[in-house]
Amino acid sequence: MTGIDYSQKIPNNVDLKSDKRLQRALERWQPDYIEWWKEMGPTDFNENDVYLRTAVSVDKDGWANFGYVKMPEYRWGIFLTPNEKDPKIQFGDHMGQDAWQQVPGEYRNWLRRLIVTQGDTEPASVEQQRLLGHTAPSLYDMRNLFQVNVEEGRHLWAMVYLLHRHFGKDGREEADQMLQRRSGNPDHPRILSTFNEPIDEWLSFFCFTMFTDRDGKFQLLSLAESGFDPLARTTRFMLTEEAHHMFVGQTGLQRIVRRTCQVMQEHPDADPAEYGAMPLDLIQRYINFWASSCYDLFGAEVSSNSANFFASGLKGRAYEDKYDEHTALDQFKTLERLQDGKIVSEEVPMRNAMNEVLREAYMADNQKGVDSWNKECAKHGIDFEFYLPHSRFNRKVGEFAGGRFHVKTGEPMDEASYEAMLEACPPKRIATTSRV
Ligand SMILES: [Fe+2]
Ligand SMILES: [Fe+2]
Repeated sequence: MTGIDYSQKIPNNVDLKSDKRLQRALERWQPDYIEWWKEMGPTDFNENDVYLRTAVSVDKDGWANFGYVKMPEYRWGIFLTPNEKDPKIQFGDHMGQDAWQQVPGEYRNWLRRLIVTQGDTEPASVEQQRLLGHTAPSLYDMRNLFQVNVEEGRHLWAMVYLLHRHFGKDGREEADQMLQRRSGNPDHPRILSTFNEPIDEWLSFFCFTMFTDRDGKFQLLSLAESGFDPLARTTRFMLTEEAHHMFVGQTGLQRIVRRTCQVMQEHPDADPAEYGAMPLDLIQRYINFWASSCYDLFGAEVSSNSANFFASGLKGRAYEDKYDEHTALDQFKTLERLQDGKIVSEEVPMRNAMNEVLREAYMADNQKGVDSWNKECAKHGIDFEFYLPHSRFNRKVGEFAGGRFHVKTGEPMDEASYEAMLEACPPKRIATTSRV
């Protein structure tokens, strides 16, 4: 069993006490973090006892403890999965070499950027969700919300540990900035756009945990392959926690769909909204918004960054060991590109297409959720089919950014029909009127 030392100010399984300088630096960051939590974490619930799970081990079985805590007293800590014996780099140009235990100098900036970008999403989501405790549909939902929130806080700790431990002064500065950026603040926003979108109602929360936390899963899966061993070991443990977040999203949406279907069965000729249920096409519109926003998080379809990250061994593919070949040299992927307003196919070197490889895996995983909601409709005899928006729809990043494409088929559209389609099915969150 790989126990966690809870006798320390900062619980950890990285023998923090043996590195006094690092320990002191993190203990200086800790009160700033708590301040940030009190200011930007769930509003008005800091004094409540909340039933939460806390990691007590990084073993697969039995890694968590459940109990009542006040959220600001949650034991946020640093947990890495145990050292593999003699780990090797599994892909890219350095394949077969020893995995790095220290930052490789030539890749320092790329690595820091990967860690900062991942780290920034964690406090961002806590900020986005801070009002939701006031409108929780049930105690069960409220507990799940706070569970997700404290674990996103812990994910920030995971990334901040890497910055402090491995990046010296600029790492510490990056860690400080994690607590200074604010979701949705026009002057000082979070790094990625999805993480600046407000989440002030629960349909968005469930969509976010379904689609955006799943983006997190796939980013973490690809970082869990990293040749920088501390990053790989950190992200592997984060994935254990992430599974619950996606469960919250998928089943939350499923419960909403189920209730709507029941109401539609009972009152076939009425608008389900009259009976307090969410119309199915409204749910689809939220899916259109959140899923398409998340497609952008994977980056441009053709990307030299993605090639660099892969070649250097910093960021692999999800489940890299399932591939037969791990250099991805002399391989190509057929991608769709936009040329003179027309969609054409083009062969792109595989390494440059890694963002798309990851996005496709993500979309296939999303589809399982959509299938479960459709089963719910079918079970109730309701003729409605949810779908994922097409990967070209509503994009702000990459090949199809700013274009007009059909939400379902991805076909190019002229302005008038595109506008008409948006009117019928806007990819927008519907602003809530009641703010707490
Ligand atoms: Fe996270
Ligand atoms: Fe998450």
